[in-house]
Amino acid sequence: METVQLERQHERRHVIKNELRWHEEEAHRRQRLDELLYKAPAFDDIVEDQLAFLDPAHSHLLLEIGSGTGKETLILSRRGHTVYTIDLSYVQIAAAKAQVLNNHASANVVWVQANAEELPFADGVFDAVYGKAILHHLDLDLAADEVKRVLRDAGRASFAEPLAGHPLIWLGRRVTPHLRTRDEHPLKWNELTAFATQFDALPVKYFYILAPLAYFLRLVPGLARTFNLFWHVLRHVDQKLLDFLPFLRQLAWYGVVSLRKPLR
Ligand SMILES: C[S@@+](CC[C@H](N)C(=O)[O-])C[C@H]1O[C@@H](n2cnc3c(N)ncnc32)[C@H](O)[C@@H]1O
Repeated sequence: METVQLERQHERRHVIKNELRWHEEEAHRRQRLDELLYKAPAFDDIVEDQLAFLDPAHSHLLLEIGSGTGKETLILSRRGHTVYTIDLSYVQIAAAKAQVLNNHASANVVWVQANAEELPFADGVFDAVYGKAILHHLDLDLAADEVKRVLRDAGRASFAEPLAGHPLIWLGRRVTPHLRTRDEHPLKWNELTAFATQFDALPVKYFYILAPLAYFLRLVPGLARTFNLFWHVLRHVDQKLLDFLPFLRQLAWYGVVSLRKPLR
């Protein structure tokens, strides 16, 4: 391993320690916010896009990075991937494991507590890597090096990440700093693009400009179906806006990158 990479990993150890402590001791505070933001059908189109790129036919052995409470671990296993899933925090892994095994006792998942910047796997072992809302916790260069290292040649990776430019989400973050770790940061759109250029990448896809307005309906009890309808309509409007006015991508809330490990 290169000395620069080893030094950077070493420099990052105090950040990783803080991330671990926060996710073991404070992440439970986010539960209600996570339900508000991520409960289906919100984010279904992002996850579907990621899953379509990681078709189990060519991505059998899959590494999920930063599984959190396992929102997608079960889906990945049900689709026929053999899933190795890592998270820094054993509290998060335990929650994910309980959730997955309650729903699918024979799920094909291996649970590993590990740091995504120093993966405990040999070179080239995985067909695919999946991550959602994880890169913004990591050093992007270390993460790219590790993802490339553990992927086989032409192996695929997909990441969906929060971006920094959405005004409403920006405001939400400003008023709730205690619901986030000190070192995480939503990515600037050019940071996500720079990460993607370290691979053979498809163009970055952007999601959600107006759709987050629907969350106001989710705050009102009894309006679940109205929320679903508004979310559905607004996310379609968003896709049209982003197709016809590409400069609006700087305001999008999420970016999705679809990557292939370059052939040597
Ligand atoms: C925002 S949550 C996302 C969880 C899940 N992917 C989702 O979409 O709900 C980020 C997760 O990454 C984990 N994490 C943070 N830093 C990490 C690191 N260096 N290595 C592995 N996991 C990490 C945290 O413990 C947390 O469970």
